[in-house]
Amino acid sequence: MTGGALGLAVRLSPKQERSIAESNARLNIWQGAIRSGKTIASLLRWLAFVANAPRGGSLIIVGKTADTISRNVFDPLMDPAITGPLAARISYTRGAPTATILGRKVEIISCADARAETRLRGMTCAGVYVDESTLLERPFWDVALPPRRQPRPGPRVRQGIEEGVHRPLV
Ligand SMILES: Nc1ncnc2c1ncn2[C@@H]1O[C@H](COP(=O)(O)OP(=O)(O)O)[C@@H](O)[C@H]1O
Ligand SMILES: [Mg+2]
Repeated sequence: MTGGALGLAVRLSPKQERSIAESNARLNIWQGAIRSGKTIASLLRWLAFVANAPRGGSLIIVGKTADTISRNVFDPLMDPAITGPLAARISYTRGAPTATILGRKVEIISCADARAETRLRGMTCAGVYVDESTLLERPFWDVALPPRRQPRPGPRVRQGIEEGVHRPLV
């Protein structure tokens, strides 16, 4: 998949392209040097996921605070210099509990919000994007990534997760 194929405005680096093409696991983690393009690549992968996401569950974006979610996730997603014509199909108001991405409702969960864990517990999840995953506390992971039952019915959980995590997850 190339930036051109998605109608994107940015020209992706070879590593960004590869990371997007290969991120087909249940859990996908972007790890690397600061300002190496992890956020942009993982966000573009998330857009492609949302465009084809199963209808049977919630799409969720998780971050540390409403401000970091707005700055790290929605500023780039809604920037036509990055996402081209798709930018106009993304809407979010800072602090709102939901956003719209390519016609799909997306739940916004800020871990600084005391109700975040309760909201997460009640959701059937089709896919999650986690911004700056190293900043999230262990209890969040216990709720967001329950042990996987085999065989697993229903939609696969796909996650675009940035940078490292506190413990081995897979
Ligand atoms: N392919 C690209 N072309 C042009 N600018 C890019 C590209 N990828 C990322 N950027 C820009 O480079 C900066 C760092 O990218 P970012 O994805 O935020 O890095 P990281 O998450 O690894 O710290 C941002 O300003 C971003 O908009
Ligand atoms: Mg980043």
